[in-house]
Amino acid sequence: MTAPITPPEFPLTALMKSSTWLFPLVETAHIWGFVILVGSVVMFDLRVLGMAKTISVRALSKFLLPFSLGAVLIVVPTGALLFATQPTEFLANRVFMLKLGLIFLAGCNALAFHAGPYRSVTEWDTSATAPLSARLMTAASIAIWLSVILCGRMLAYV
Ligand code: HEM
Repeated sequence: MTAPITPPEFPLTALMKSSTWLFPLVETAHIWGFVILVGSVVMFDLRVLGMAKTISVRALSKFLLPFSLGAVLIVVPTGALLFATQPTEFLANRVFMLKLGLIFLAGCNALAFHAGPYRSVTEWDTSATAPLSARLMTAASIAIWLSVILCGRMLAYV
């Protein structure tokens, strides 16, 4: 019988497993990251959906986008570190794969929003109702990001 293939373990991964503090610290940084990411995205989405119409969509985007992009730089490396502690288990976990698929979908949705309805933002920057496509995409964005959080939380139980 052939022995199961075990992926190579990096020193940091081994330290994450043996240290009492490192895993919870990385997980806490992961939480800080996605709170800022999902928080900033959802605030923008709510504005496009019609809340606080006196606030300029462009000004809000300029303010929030650096937070969203900066948070990605925290969320992805910390997520990768958490993943590296049990890669085989996570790859076989359907909830984890669903979570990654949803993150990809959210990224595509955001790119499509910026390449699509956002190009005409000067016409609906303040007071006006955003086009239907913009409202559908931002509503989808909220639903996808909240589902990503649900999948992330479920990982501890499935
Ligand atoms: C981009 C948005 C992301 C969100 C909103 C998110 C959300 C979450 C949440 C809510 C948890 C549970 C935290 C807890 O129960 O304490 C979690 C855990 C986790 N995340 Fe993410 N995550 C994101 C990105 C990623 C990425 C890109 C990866 C992998 C490359 C990843 C890998 C993990 C792993 C492996 C865990 C489980 C740790 C464990 O409890 O064993 N996450 N995530």
